[in-house]
Amino acid sequence: MCGIVGYVGTGDKSIEVLLGGLKRLEYRGYDSAGVAVIDAAGDLGTRKKAGKLQVLVDDLEATPLTDGTTGIGHTRWATHGGPTDANAHPHLADDGKLALIHNGIIENFSELKAELLAEGVEFLSETDSEVAAHLVARAYRASGDLTEALRTVVNTLDGAFTLLVVHADQPGVVVGARRNSPLVIGLGDGENFLGSDVAAFVAHTRRAMSIGQDQLVTIRPDSVEVVDFTGAPVETTEFEVDWDASAAEKGGWSSFMAKEISEEPEAVAKTLLGRITAEGAVTLTELDGVRERLLTVDRVIVIACGTAAYAGILGKYAIEQWARVPVEVELAHEFRYRDPVLDEKTLVVSISQSGETMDTLMAVKYAREQGAQVLSICNTQGSTIPRESDAVLYTHAGPEVAVASTKAFVAQGTALFLLGLHLATLRGTLSTEAIAEQVADLHEIPGKIEQVLESSERIKTLAGWMADTRSVLFLGRHVGYPIALEGALKLKELAYIHAEGFAAGELKHGPIALIEPGQIVFVVVPSPRDPRSLHPKVVSNIQEIRARGARVIAIAEEGDAAVLPFADEVLHIPLAAPLFEPLLSVVPLHIFGMELAAAKGLDVDQPRNLAKSVTVE
Ligand code: M6R
Repeated sequence: MCGIVGYVGTGDKSIEVLLGGLKRLEYRGYDSAGVAVIDAAGDLGTRKKAGKLQVLVDDLEATPLTDGTTGIGHTRWATHGGPTDANAHPHLADDGKLALIHNGIIENFSELKAELLAEGVEFLSETDSEVAAHLVARAYRASGDLTEALRTVVNTLDGAFTLLVVHADQPGVVVGARRNSPLVIGLGDGENFLGSDVAAFVAHTRRAMSIGQDQLVTIRPDSVEVVDFTGAPVETTEFEVDWDASAAEKGGWSSFMAKEISEEPEAVAKTLLGRITAEGAVTLTELDGVRERLLTVDRVIVIACGTAAYAGILGKYAIEQWARVPVEVELAHEFRYRDPVLDEKTLVVSISQSGETMDTLMAVKYAREQGAQVLSICNTQGSTIPRESDAVLYTHAGPEVAVASTKAFVAQGTALFLLGLHLATLRGTLSTEAIAEQVADLHEIPGKIEQVLESSERIKTLAGWMADTRSVLFLGRHVGYPIALEGALKLKELAYIHAEGFAAGELKHGPIALIEPGQIVFVVVPSPRDPRSLHPKVVSNIQEIRARGARVIAIAEEGDAAVLPFADEVLHIPLAAPLFEPLLSVVPLHIFGMELAAAKGLDVDQPRNLAKSVTVE
């Protein structure tokens, strides 16, 4: 949460760089935004505004700020203090010469603030962050060294933070620090960058370095220095960002979400790329380091939040069926606080698009402290969770900008299927032929998602009819169950409609009481070819709710005639292997959530109260 950009160069173009970076980071928070710039005269100017970034942009156009070579910018998701101009970042220290931006929560800010108040410091905001601005300014007055000043202060702070500071007496210098909150360095030619993620600077450079926990970085136009919180120098490794700025542009689409749904076929295809052989075997060389654990594992625990956790349920069904290992799926924030039993035969699999979700990160750290090995499925290079894990299986969905996760979900499902087949290969639980058969089916999924996308207009029309709906239910069974949960989450977060997803078998244990005439229910219908014969059971569920007046929209396989007489609408998906059907059935629900929100006139990319990357607990 909160997007952070820092820039030092030689020309007076900080504001343009900062606003461009903030535009790409706005998905991290959009309550307010601000910039601070040091101009050629050594004066520090700031501008900050409540509302989306555009409010700040308009304000700067109306009344320009003198530009300079050095600056910091911030887009906020409010924690302490509402979304007002005063609470927007940057925060100035009491001498007006130091500006600071912050992502995270300073947990001991009350004590620190009380001490500062007692010394007569006047606070202009209700934020925890302003405390850090006053403290760093004081430390700077004592040492005259901005890096040393920030280092002194971070050692007194509890909680999670990325902090960036600039000081009017130090033009050409931006200093950053991070603990449990993201910060990445962008390496330019005569200019350098800092950002919450590489999107902040990818328009200028694809050369990047990530820094570790409890480290500080000082950037100047021609140098980058990293030290830890004790002041000791730290070695860092450069990496190349594997996508360019155009991947994070709308590219003619009405929204990032529309673009990202259209990229679902590619997200699956790219996640498969290079990981299956011509013979139909799965090769995951990136997991060689945890090969022993994969051979001996007797239990897998998947930890994730939100949509990523629903993808995890797909992994459970696949891994258990193929590799015959018990799999639990747990919300990361619940896992960490329940004193879970972990031993050396437990493999923890974390899933995160951003690689920065605080709950998942903390659960990863906790699992490793308890002796478990952690394999992470992640979409974001240079993010924190991969750094904290024993092995990483990257999804290659490309940057996901819309707050609601779509293409990341199908990429995560694909990575889990690959992991399941890899485990089955290592453990000898599936024959070579059976694996090759699954791989061949998986290979066809991108083309089949393309076919589903062809029904977008029909789903849009359906969503238009339902713009006034107040409640929608979703039912699914087996791998259709997480799709029901995902369909409901999308409606809640995008269209602000009450929506619930249920396991269809649970219906008569309570949820059926919610059915009244006109209630809309989406039902994810398993294939009639499913060997477990779940299809007739779900068709019976449809009849039960229809008998009580529900309006049923079924997502069913092409040619499924049995469902037609009982559904008000049927959205067809192509035939696929039963375990892979969810990669198809989820697509109409992603489109539906987006179109219903659009029909209500809502911002589908930036829903209220949310941020893309939940970096506070
Ligand atoms: O970046 P992550 O995959 O760790 O994010 C997890 C959830 O915060 C995320 O999936 C969230 O639920 C989305 N808003 C769902 O669309």
